Amino acid sequence: MNVKQLFDLTGRVAIITGGAAGLGLQMAEALSEMGANLVLCARKKDRCEQAAKDFAAKGVKTLALACDVRNQASIQETVDRTVAEFGQIDILINNAGVSWGAPVEDMPLEAWNKVIETNLTGTFLFSQAAGKIMLRQKRGKIINIASVAGLRGAPPELPAIGYHASKGGVIIFTKDLACKWAGHNINVNAIAPGWFPTHMSEIVIERNKEAFLKRIPLGRFGSDYDLKGAAVFLASAASDYVTGHVLVVDGGQTA
Ligand SMILES: NC(=O)c1ccc[n+]([C@@H]2O[C@H](COP(=O)([O-])OP(=O)(O)OC[C@H]3O[C@@H](n4cnc5c(N)ncnc54)[C@H](OP(=O)(O)O)[C@@H]3O)[C@@H](O)[C@H]2O)c1
Repeated sequence: MNVKQLFDLTGRVAIITGGAAGLGLQMAEALSEMGANLVLCARKKDRCEQAAKDFAAKGVKTLALACDVRNQASIQETVDRTVAEFGQIDILINNAGVSWGAPVEDMPLEAWNKVIETNLTGTFLFSQAAGKIMLRQKRGKIINIASVAGLRGAPPELPAIGYHASKGGVIIFTKDLACKWAGHNINVNAIAPGWFPTHMSEIVIERNKEAFLKRIPLGRFGSDYDLKGAAVFLASAASDYVTGHVLVVDGGQTA
């Protein structure tokens, strides 16, 4: 295969959780630009529908579904609707995520649970449900959105211990699932973004802008295209010999 064929996603079906906003939308755009059909799912269905309309205007077949990744039945319904509409699931991006800031000693249990259930348990449940289809197909690409926050600790000014723990969990979950499903031709990888301005990060970035920039060798935050290449690489045949990998996209922050 030549390199253009390796990166081609024509006719592939990709589910992107939280795919109607922020980094999920950026990755959805990237996959569609390489030819994939999209399933965008999140709690706010209207936002998914709006994004689906925008994609449809560009000729991309897109399904918009309401889904809460903390709810197993809701995930199963999303998987069933995807298979009914498209007949297959080639790519799953577990992107839905939340964070909660509070000092460790004051972190409410409900906040800890919400973050773990969304970021880690949601990733497990969605991989399990979509994975059953991929196991049947004998092929698939799972991409889990971790974070550089899952690679090491952070000072008290960044008080989101549940978020860090969840993303560390996503990283080892990725590696373990990669080992377990490699024999079924399913690649499981993670992307660990650094700081990208989105709804989730904007307040923290605003408060710490100069300090953060000093620690990013490339001297800027992630842009509206910086994740595109990583997502297409891990979703396509270009990464067929890559599994259990954590692709860091952080401007050199953790270098
Ligand atoms: N921005 C950064 O600097 C950065 C850095 C590293 C990693 N990340 C990771 O990147 C991913 C995307 O975050 P973002 O920065 O793009 O933030 P964002 O704009 O706040 O997007 C989060 C997305 O997750 C969805 N979501 C949240 N809870 C959900 C649930 N229970 N079920 C289904 N969908 C849910 C949201 O949609 P609804 O509200 O409609 O459900 C939204 O689409 C997250 O996993 C985040 O941890 C971000």
